[in-house]
Amino acid sequence: MTLPAPRHGTGAADPAAPGRELAEPGFWQLPPERRLAAFARLRALDSPVFVPEGPGHWALVRHAQVQEASRLPKVFASAPGVTTPEPARWVRALFGDSMVNLDGADHAQLRKIVQRAFTPRLLAAAEEDIHAVAARIVDDVLTGQPDEFVSAVASRLPLEVICNMMGIPEHYRAEIADRVDHASENIGVERGLAARLRMPGRGLRALARMQRMVARIGRERRKNPTDDLISALVCANVDGQALGTRQLGAFFSLLMVAGVETTRNAITHGLTLLTDHPDQRDLLLSDFEKYADGAVDEMIRHSTPIIQFRRTVAAEHTLGGHLFRPGDKVVLYYASANRDEAVFPDPDAFDITRSPNPHLGFGGGGPHFCLGAHLARVEMKALFRQLLTRPVGLRAVGLPDFAGSNFDNRVRSLKFAFERP
Ligand code: HEM
Repeated sequence: MTLPAPRHGTGAADPAAPGRELAEPGFWQLPPERRLAAFARLRALDSPVFVPEGPGHWALVRHAQVQEASRLPKVFASAPGVTTPEPARWVRALFGDSMVNLDGADHAQLRKIVQRAFTPRLLAAAEEDIHAVAARIVDDVLTGQPDEFVSAVASRLPLEVICNMMGIPEHYRAEIADRVDHASENIGVERGLAARLRMPGRGLRALARMQRMVARIGRERRKNPTDDLISALVCANVDGQALGTRQLGAFFSLLMVAGVETTRNAITHGLTLLTDHPDQRDLLLSDFEKYADGAVDEMIRHSTPIIQFRRTVAAEHTLGGHLFRPGDKVVLYYASANRDEAVFPDPDAFDITRSPNPHLGFGGGGPHFCLGAHLARVEMKALFRQLLTRPVGLRAVGLPDFAGSNFDNRVRSLKFAFERP
């Protein structure tokens, strides 16, 4: 379907118009409190504002708006892409379409195949594995005494868990870790011209090599299936369908960004939050099993690892007092929805007993709701159980090094310290 070019709102011309700041790369480098204060001002307005970034988009900043748009996929479509800028046509042709960018029957069919592979049996086996991996990471921390949390702890757990689930042989893993970093380091981050020209090439090369590697494993598993996720995906046989080689590659790349980046950022923000809020940390430690589920969800609400996803309007619809027309771009700001004072009393407080906590960190419901939400929660709970009960006084030191992305709340590095037990 060819959609008409989007109309520009009044904000495009007026440099002081509300929402214009979201188009400035410098805005995403500001300390979190200043960005969140800007979103609070936008939530107070009567209708969504226009952000003149690239082709421009309308910003949905209230909880109710983000939820409504997520649950109306025929109006707010995911095709041609949910990230900004949207993937080029040739990139999609070469690498295959990721399920996040598909709608309707195409999306449902892919999700059905993939969901079938996330069977209770596979997830139960993964849970056992998660506890073992978390324990091993903390063993290594106690022995090696590293001082950088993202690489030594937060990245390791989600990467190892997904590689174990998928059945990626050990000798590919260091390379995959490196490629995941290269494939995602540029998303949503403003850089100088030289870096902008160099980075996408490096990211695409990393993606291409990762896909070739997974395609090779997929071909082997089709011939000799084992009980891992790649075998389940290439032999899934839902309505006579399994994943083809390109679809498998696209799904693997999605899992690496959607499942690894997000969880590692949530874990890193979690440590910072527990360090900055010693009362909440003491409460969690007073009865870990009682408070851990609430703590994990509050970490996700407060930090919102995925800041935003985009939709393209496919049918006329009024939302938040604004009439959207086909072709309009709309961005769902989960980071703002999760601080909406209409839903969360004292929204900036970090409160592990918050109940209910209907955060939109995993999406606003609807067909694209995060496939890995359960897995992410289990990973975070298992890791914090180990981190808080084995080393003594584990804490973040100094401030996190934020990537300044407008897409995900990425932390490049964070120093940490602890005493041995
Ligand atoms: C704290 C960690 C995580 C966060 C914050 C997160 C967040 C999200 C969000 C916001 C979406 C989009 C939802 C929507 O459009 O309605 C999403 C989709 C998705 N997530 Fe997650 N995610 C996390 C962990 C994971 C993990 C561990 C996996 C896989 C193992 C995963 C796999 C996916 C997939 C495959 C989708 C696309 C689903 C679809 O298009 O149907 N995520 N996630």
